[in-house]
Amino acid sequence: MIIACASCGEKLGDRTPHATCPKCDGLLNITPASPPARGEALQKLFDTRASNHAMCGTPIQQSGVWRFRELVLPTDDASIVSHPEGNTPLLQRGVVSHYAGIDSLRMKHEGHNPTGSFKDRGMTVALTQARRCGATAIACASTGNTSSSLASYAAHAGIPALVMVPVGRISMGKLAQTVAYGARTLLVRGDFDDCLRLVRESAQSLGVYLGNSLNPFRIEGQKTIIFELLQQCGWNPPDWIALPAGNLGNTSAFGKALREAHELGLISKIPRLLSVQASGAAPFAHSFAEDFANRHKVRAETIATAIRIGDPASWDRGVAAIRFTNGVVAAVSDGAIMEAKSVIDASGVGCEPASAASVAGVKALIARGVIKSGESVVTILTGHVLKDPEKMLVSDTNSPHLHPNPPIEIDANLSAVERVLKSAAN
Ligand code: F0G
Repeated sequence: MIIACASCGEKLGDRTPHATCPKCDGLLNITPASPPARGEALQKLFDTRASNHAMCGTPIQQSGVWRFRELVLPTDDASIVSHPEGNTPLLQRGVVSHYAGIDSLRMKHEGHNPTGSFKDRGMTVALTQARRCGATAIACASTGNTSSSLASYAAHAGIPALVMVPVGRISMGKLAQTVAYGARTLLVRGDFDDCLRLVRESAQSLGVYLGNSLNPFRIEGQKTIIFELLQQCGWNPPDWIALPAGNLGNTSAFGKALREAHELGLISKIPRLLSVQASGAAPFAHSFAEDFANRHKVRAETIATAIRIGDPASWDRGVAAIRFTNGVVAAVSDGAIMEAKSVIDASGVGCEPASAASVAGVKALIARGVIKSGESVVTILTGHVLKDPEKMLVSDTNSPHLHPNPPIEIDANLSAVERVLKSAAN
């Protein structure tokens, strides 16, 4: 494994306590060591582990991250901090495909991870590295999912956690979860971008280990969303993979995973990435429209609090991922996000608002003729429906796709139940 700064080339040891370059603060890139096999032999190694340990074995053997350990972080078992995580389902629901306007839309539901979001895949690796480098505390800025995940994995590792979230701007579910897992939680008077600046300064000056997706070990873990998805598709990739984009950690991880999978002969075709932002928080989409000629920053505002980010940290990695996959970056309105969420929720699958941006983005690109109706698409649902409960009881009758379903208060007798059933039948 080689760890090097993408900006100045500085090389670091594999137990480095630095999450960004100590010389120029640039993003660090990890090149994994060559795995023991390539192509079909490597597929077979991963497939055998998946079928042998899906339900039993040690947490490390069961983990959908550590199954791919040669491509993630080769290390001794004793260092690994795992719940386990991963092994998330690939779901298909006719109503959602129909809504998006495509024959086959599959949804990989990362909300099935232990803390309810995809962040657990990066966090198991970040906390493992925190142990390996002897970190005495770990910190992050967050819109709520990173903080929940970091708090949980830090508790598991026995390392104190410090979390900075924008006051009044994250969902109650995520805040409660973060506090419950025992992280010292700071409500910062500012937005996510202010929190990230502050946590970076704290990491530099106060010596805490940085747990945000700037940390290259987070990216190495999040690559396994792609490895596992490819494995679930029998190593026959879909034409498109759509995901919501905020700080661009996941977009970066997906591009890196696809590059490595292709170089190692795990796949012969490269799917196109579709990164979807909310239109009130869409600096990356603006830049894509200009062929990435300029980097933009905005004051972010969207109902999808998880991706309310105006100055994405993993910008250069994100650009590389979109370029490598011949990808597309799109922006969708809050109305389109909530409409897509309503359809996903009513199908019984459910997800948080930011996750639904991926389906809204697919629908928009099909309407524009960029995605063809015969192409295969997998969207990533990044977070669980319970993450953001405030938004679910909001009703809006302007759209035929929104399904307002307000709970009904009744007296405690059978005739009241009967009246409700009769009115539902009419
Ligand atoms: N979806 C959800 C549910 C998220 O929580 C996030 C990011 C994203 C998508 C965007 O992913 O940042 O890698 O582009 N949440 C971070 C957090 C910022 O603090 O929980 P990204």
